[in-house]
Amino acid sequence: MELLLATQNKGKIEEISRMLRPLGVDVIPPKEEVPVEEEGRSFMENAYLKALAYFKRYGIPTLADDSGLVVPSLEGYPGIYSSRFYSLEWGGKEEVETSKDQANIKKLLRLLEGTSDRRAYFKAVVCLMIDEELYIFAEGICHGEIVKSPRGSGGFGYDPVFKPIGYEKTMAELSPEEKDSLSHRGKAIRKLFQLLEKCKHSIFYQKASLA
Ligand code: IMP
Repeated sequence: MELLLATQNKGKIEEISRMLRPLGVDVIPPKEEVPVEEEGRSFMENAYLKALAYFKRYGIPTLADDSGLVVPSLEGYPGIYSSRFYSLEWGGKEEVETSKDQANIKKLLRLLEGTSDRRAYFKAVVCLMIDEELYIFAEGICHGEIVKSPRGSGGFGYDPVFKPIGYEKTMAELSPEEKDSLSHRGKAIRKLFQLLEKCKHSIFYQKASLA
């Protein structure tokens, strides 16, 4: 089975490919980026918009992921703006010195200075589109807190400042397998494929009972 991934984000491509390989699914990264207006008001709407845009361009089953970090003490920001948090007026813009990820982290730590409530969670919504009118969603959440300074070099995005509940390490200090086992994206992908597995049996059952 082959699935087009509706993203250019190298971190997501790497994680999703390594989770789907053992299930016999080959992930195809898109040859060219498809511009998507991420104007949805939720992860779910944006996951749908990405899946639709890439499906329309390439016409093959497409998997999209929209995800981000939610910090309740920051009114839910960065949230759906996670990838471009540094550039938002909200909370003050941050200069990009080395990378966007670094600027996002710098802004997050600045806004949390002196705050005792550092709880946060990652959320991912994945959308698998088989056809423009046939698609399913699955969601995954990973709870944790924001540490005071970045640690670790694995993963991507906010991983160096996110410590999952029950762990002393940040996401960026975990092995890839550990991250996949507890991450928002790992949970969403596993749910999606469990759902597909169930559907497979129900379609088979319907066919068998009609025959
Ligand atoms: P999207 O590409 O619009 O879904 O934005 C995703 C953004 O959320 C990324 O650029 C990261 O900033 C953040 N993010 C999502 N998932 C992760 C993760 O697993 N680790 C760290 N940051 C993440």
